Amino acid sequence: MVACGTAHYACYVAKYWIEKLAKIPVEIDIASEFRYREPPIEHATVAIFVSQSGETADTLAALRYCSGRAEKIISIVNVSTSSIARESDEVLEIHAGPEIGVASTKAYLGMLVGQLLLAKHWDSANKLDVSFDEIAELPKLIEETMDCEKQIKDISEKIYKKNDIYFIGRGLDYALAAEGALKLKEISYLHAEALAAGELKHGTLALIEDGTPIIVTASQNHLLDKTTSNVQEVIARGAYVIAIGDNQSEKLENISDEYVTLPDSNEILTTVISIIPLQFIAYHVANLNGESIDQPRNLAKSVTVE
Ligand code: G6P
Repeated sequence: MVACGTAHYACYVAKYWIEKLAKIPVEIDIASEFRYREPPIEHATVAIFVSQSGETADTLAALRYCSGRAEKIISIVNVSTSSIARESDEVLEIHAGPEIGVASTKAYLGMLVGQLLLAKHWDSANKLDVSFDEIAELPKLIEETMDCEKQIKDISEKIYKKNDIYFIGRGLDYALAAEGALKLKEISYLHAEALAAGELKHGTLALIEDGTPIIVTASQNHLLDKTTSNVQEVIARGAYVIAIGDNQSEKLENISDEYVTLPDSNEILTTVISIIPLQFIAYHVANLNGESIDQPRNLAKSVTVE
């Protein structure tokens, strides 16, 4: 799976779903790195390119590298007439509609859903414990999740003047942390960094001091205890902890300074909706700082140079 920016972080989520649940090994790569290392592509390889615009130059170049090498080229795009779609064997359209803001939000959600459907298609052992009916209920679940906006606005008022914000999570939540940090950087210009929660103690813990904001997502129950103990490590150094999870995470909720409760849902969909509070944090922090949210400085919606 090859992509850039937000689309690349969407691939992190797909890797987890496809490998862990459908048991097919997945390599993900940043398009601007991929072809320069001339990776061997065995014929029984499916190459997947994920792109909102379908025109990102590096992703397109990576696709061309795989053409004639991979067994099949699949693209997941928002623009069905794009170059990436045209040069693919199969196209999965995410149907997110035109996305105006430079920082991708609804396209990211659309990519996750497209990838989830693909993973379900490959899940011959029926390991992906989510039904098509449940997936079809996502719009309603997203509406309910958006009720957290008022709470997120209040939280944003406490952190918008900070210089550094860290996002942590394990497994799929690490993938969400990466996207949450990118959103914040793109539109609020604050320094944000994502870390696999278990890696904190291998260096970054040294940077945590009184009041450092740590944003943690905890969408997977089997990792909750481990994540909670990583949160305890940062609390011991004075961090200001904002946690996002469901109503089963009492211990995490009790130790956090702020806790955003997601609506009840299937665990796989909890991961999908967990990005919404992170997107709202980026939005409100940028807004409070008076930044232009749809048109951040120095960035372009579609990057057609390599
Ligand atoms: C630009 C945009 C990002 C986007 C990336 C990849 O950097 O500012 O929001 O994630 O390109 O774009 P794509 O259209 O390939 O998804």
